[in-house]
Amino acid sequence: MRVLAIESSCDETAAAVLSAPFDLESSIVASQVVVHAPYGGVVPELASRHHVEAVVPVVRQALATARRTLDEIDVVAATSGPGLIGSLMVGLQVAKGIAFARGLPFIGVHHLEGHLCAPFLAAPRPEFPFLALLVSGGHTGLYAVRAVGDITCLGATRDDAAGEAFDKVAALLGLGYPGGVAIERAAAGGDAARFMLPRALRGRRNLDFSFSGLKTAARIALERLGDDLDATGLRDFCASVQAAIVDSLIEKSRWALRQVDCRRLVVAGGVAANRALREALEALRRSDGIDVYLPPLSYCTDNAAMIAVAAALRWSRGDRDPLTKPALATWPLAS
Ligand code: KG4
Ligand code: ZN
Repeated sequence: MRVLAIESSCDETAAAVLSAPFDLESSIVASQVVVHAPYGGVVPELASRHHVEAVVPVVRQALATARRTLDEIDVVAATSGPGLIGSLMVGLQVAKGIAFARGLPFIGVHHLEGHLCAPFLAAPRPEFPFLALLVSGGHTGLYAVRAVGDITCLGATRDDAAGEAFDKVAALLGLGYPGGVAIERAAAGGDAARFMLPRALRGRRNLDFSFSGLKTAARIALERLGDDLDATGLRDFCASVQAAIVDSLIEKSRWALRQVDCRRLVVAGGVAANRALREALEALRRSDGIDVYLPPLSYCTDNAAMIAVAAALRWSRGDRDPLTKPALATWPLAS
């Protein structure tokens, strides 16, 4: 079974071809970062318009790179939510159009389930069931994953997502968008203990996160520092912010692993690309004997390869969707 998958939930237009279950034949991503950077965030109207321009060339390139034609595709998949509604509809309708014209089955994939499937793109691959820490720009949560489509939420952020916290502090510092990579770069070699920033809900046995207090504390600290923030100060400040976010993610993951008595942890979403988080997870692996599964770096942020994996796993369970399946701006991941 070979799947053609399309992803267009936010500001990346992506297509991939995958031979089931995990043999990736191509993955093309057209990023709109330069379009949105001057605005400090994604402008939905601009994103939709750019998807319309990019989607067909991206699909063509994915097929060409895989050296496949539509005759060799068995299933068409697309992200059908959650995300920006105008953006979602572009990729979704193109996928449905191909499925309709070719008489192929269609699968509408949950974007976050796609993220959770990204670690299957490289060996060693996780086995179900596993605990998942999902850390993206719009979502942060811990999930007990028994199979695709069989997921329970154990805890989630009460306000900002981890990626959003990186982005908002980066904006305060004038480091640009997206902020996660900018903070990671600016933090290199910094003293993470120099600025004491809050780790919200710490020590509590619930598995929720909160990052809005960190953003406020960062703003107040920066206002106090004013012009006293020199290059070393900026480096230490970024390292301190990064450490506060990573500490919260690790502590709650450890609680969750104990609570569900699981030794497999999958970490996915854009923030999973963060090196400080990856180092902390490696330390967790050594100290607690946990098997940690991370996506290859290029599959942490939005891409269609992860959507193709999720579709292949759903296909193997017998899932098919009608061409009337809608685009959904909000759609809970857990049942
Ligand atoms: O998963 P993703 O590509 O999009 C969503 O579905 O949200 O995640 C994007 C988020 C952004 O907030 C970005 O700042 C963050 O992931 N991010 C990072 C890094 N790379 C991307 N955060 C920290 N460190 C990074 N290296
Ligand atoms: Zn995403």
